[in-house]
Amino acid sequence: MKLLFIGDIVGQPGRNAVKNLLPKLREQHALDFVIANGENSAGGSGITPRTAGEIFDAGVDVITSGDHLWDQKEVMELLANEKRFLRPLNYPAGTPGRGSGVFEVQSPKSKVQSPISIGVLNVQGRTFMQPPLEHAFLLAAEEVKRLRERTKIIFVDFHAEATSEKIAFARFLDGRVSAVVGTHTHVQTADEQIFPGGTAYLTDAGFTGPHESVLGREIEPVIKRFLTAMPQRFEVAKNRVQLHGAVIEIDDASGKAVKIQRVSENLI
Ligand SMILES: [Fe+2]
Ligand SMILES: [Fe+2]
Repeated sequence: MKLLFIGDIVGQPGRNAVKNLLPKLREQHALDFVIANGENSAGGSGITPRTAGEIFDAGVDVITSGDHLWDQKEVMELLANEKRFLRPLNYPAGTPGRGSGVFEVQSPKSKVQSPISIGVLNVQGRTFMQPPLEHAFLLAAEEVKRLRERTKIIFVDFHAEATSEKIAFARFLDGRVSAVVGTHTHVQTADEQIFPGGTAYLTDAGFTGPHESVLGREIEPVIKRFLTAMPQRFEVAKNRVQLHGAVIEIDDASGKAVKIQRVSENLI
């Protein structure tokens, strides 16, 4: 099977990019499944049922999130009712929502088994990240063990800042999951590879939104913030909108990755 993972969708420009580019990408790559990080989809901060609805309507099957999870209070509704919405797994026990799910791939092209199930897992790093969450590596390993009882095809969005933590986390899970792709930095890295155990990896998928910006926000207020150390309003920028992510091909029988390819598409 082939899946597309889309890096952090920032504001309305990001949602527009998904709406306009996803149908073409689905066809071009013969995609079976699409996962997107939606933590910045509402005005650049957080996610609401409305922005999540727009992303699902555009053809995304599962939405992951990260440290901006709580920025919009309406997220509580998603956490309570939307099974296709994931939050980082490693929140303390009792936190609303879920960190993983097993989903059925609609109309798979596979000859191996039908229907195909895919496990999706969202985990947050602990190095230079707020708030401090529970142990990412150990909880992820336990969750992967549970997911593997149902399917060998497992995708992990590791929402983290430090490249060392991201690489170590993915190396730790090599051979146990199909892919680990990082999010959060909003800067796409060029280190896509498949580890010896068969896990596809990319340190960061990048972000989907306006790239004439600082990580999706207007440039001037961010410069001013660094110059003066005074708080500024960071509006979502407008121009040079791109969709960033990665396409991953997975062997259905073994769950091992066959290919990983970075995606960076302009919205014209
Ligand atoms: Fe983000
Ligand atoms: Fe983040």
